[in-house]
Amino acid sequence: MKPRIAILISGGGSNMVSLVNSMKSNRINALPAIVISNNPNAAGLKKASELDVPTISIDHKIFNGNREAFEETLNNTLQRETIDIICLAGFMRILSHSFINQWDNKILNIHPSLLPKYKGLNTHQRAIDASDKITGCSVHIVTSELDGGLVLGQKSVNISSDETAQTLAEKVLVEEHVLYSKILDDFINNIYVQ
Ligand code: GAR
Repeated sequence: MKPRIAILISGGGSNMVSLVNSMKSNRINALPAIVISNNPNAAGLKKASELDVPTISIDHKIFNGNREAFEETLNNTLQRETIDIICLAGFMRILSHSFINQWDNKILNIHPSLLPKYKGLNTHQRAIDASDKITGCSVHIVTSELDGGLVLGQKSVNISSDETAQTLAEKVLVEEHVLYSKILDDFINNIYVQ
């Protein structure tokens, strides 16, 4: 049986679209079971529906800062959908230790920098401000340390002299799409095909 993947998003969802397309065309041996957004207005929700992937929005705001209650609802949804692997794809909420421990080694994230450089936000501007010549993206296992889990793969991108955070984000995003599909496929093959 193919592993069932939940993709968690907060925004545009271009990485989600790329992962779903890779699964649908069997470039990843897995099923896109559900797309979940903490932001009910995320543009990615409509894109997922257009790709015939079920969607659920769990608006974190209605939990009034109670992260435990938000994560309980999230966890119940993941259990109900019998999810095997969670892919964070532009999901902009920090998950608690307790949630991550329940999904130990089952959560992947894509991050727009060459980790361990530039954990957190504004990665492209920080790379430009540091006069870096190269940046990129990383796929890693999610652990309790923010953007600190084992890096499974990276792709680099040259930073040109007239680069802005916006142009760099666009260039890196293209590489993110390629990298995430490849790494998710490798990850599944390592776990499920022994
Ligand atoms: C991507 O660049 C992803 O790496 C980044 O958000 C963007 C989402 O784009 N994620 C993070 O910064 C996580 N800390 P998308 O919604 O078009 O996939």
